[in-house]
Amino acid sequence: MSVQTLAAWLRCPNCFLDLFEVTDAPSAVLGCASGHRFDVNRRGYVTLLPPRSKVVGDSPEMLDAREALLASGAYAPIRDALIAAVRPAAPTRVLDSGTGTGWYLHGLLDALGSGARGLASDLSPVAVARAARGRPEIDGLVADVHAPLPVRAGVADAVTVVFAPRNAAEFARVLRPGGLLAIVTPRADHLAELRERSGMLDVPAGKAEALTVDLDLWFSPASSEHVRYALPVDEARARQLVGMGPSARHAAAASALTSTAGALPPAVTVSVDVLAFTRR
Ligand SMILES: C[S@@+](CC[C@H](N)C(=O)[O-])C[C@H]1O[C@@H](n2cnc3c(N)ncnc32)[C@H](O)[C@@H]1O
Ligand SMILES: [Zn+2]
Repeated sequence: MSVQTLAAWLRCPNCFLDLFEVTDAPSAVLGCASGHRFDVNRRGYVTLLPPRSKVVGDSPEMLDAREALLASGAYAPIRDALIAAVRPAAPTRVLDSGTGTGWYLHGLLDALGSGARGLASDLSPVAVARAARGRPEIDGLVADVHAPLPVRAGVADAVTVVFAPRNAAEFARVLRPGGLLAIVTPRADHLAELRERSGMLDVPAGKAEALTVDLDLWFSPASSEHVRYALPVDEARARQLVGMGPSARHAAAASALTSTAGALPPAVTVSVDVLAFTRR
């Protein structure tokens, strides 16, 4: 990232004017024409939360669990399906919303080749720092997806959202006409064997259908793939799967898993939809 490449994505969270590099500041600073100023962190990101925001993103422990699971290749088929859905659109500017450790964005940018740039956005500063680390083609943004995004209109060729919260109206605004929105969302049977044992949160049935209705105002369906496979698990992997999800905040989930560890199945079902939509 550079201050210029970061600024090119962004608008002011207070007054919505474009952000630019403030060149007469002693450190890296972004500013708007109204005079609002934002420090750029040395770890490669800027925090643009609305005033008095109280929401929190994933904790470092959840990120550690996810990083370990993803590094093991457990979800490689999901990343491959995401790349297959996005690559034909040949985007050069990709916003990954709720990026986590950036594992999907890294794979996608590697597949798209030189010239492609990414904006790694998440509510968790620790997540964004990890996603941007050692990746000059990635700019980092700490923002709340449920607030108006501090991202310029029409600046993205593609938006990706993997297991993360969505804001259809804002994704529509930041995508250029003809741009691609790619979403990975779990099905009701995703990790069902672990859910039964650990009290992990259920996936509401009919999620993918509800989603399509939600997006209907701005998007047309482009492609859809159901990725389903058996993932071998041992106790360490089961812990990572529980620890990286939203249920990890409930201490009961981890202890329930411990008490039934002997009864772990040899494999769990991975079942997700990889859906792509075109911005009209
Ligand atoms: C289940 S994780 C998925 C992370 C990553 N896409 C992956 O699959 O590895 C959900 C992510 O969304 C982020 N998140 C939660 N609420 C958010 C919000 N309101 N705005 C932006 N990000 C949010 C969390 O911090 C977390 O990194
Ligand atoms: Zn401003």
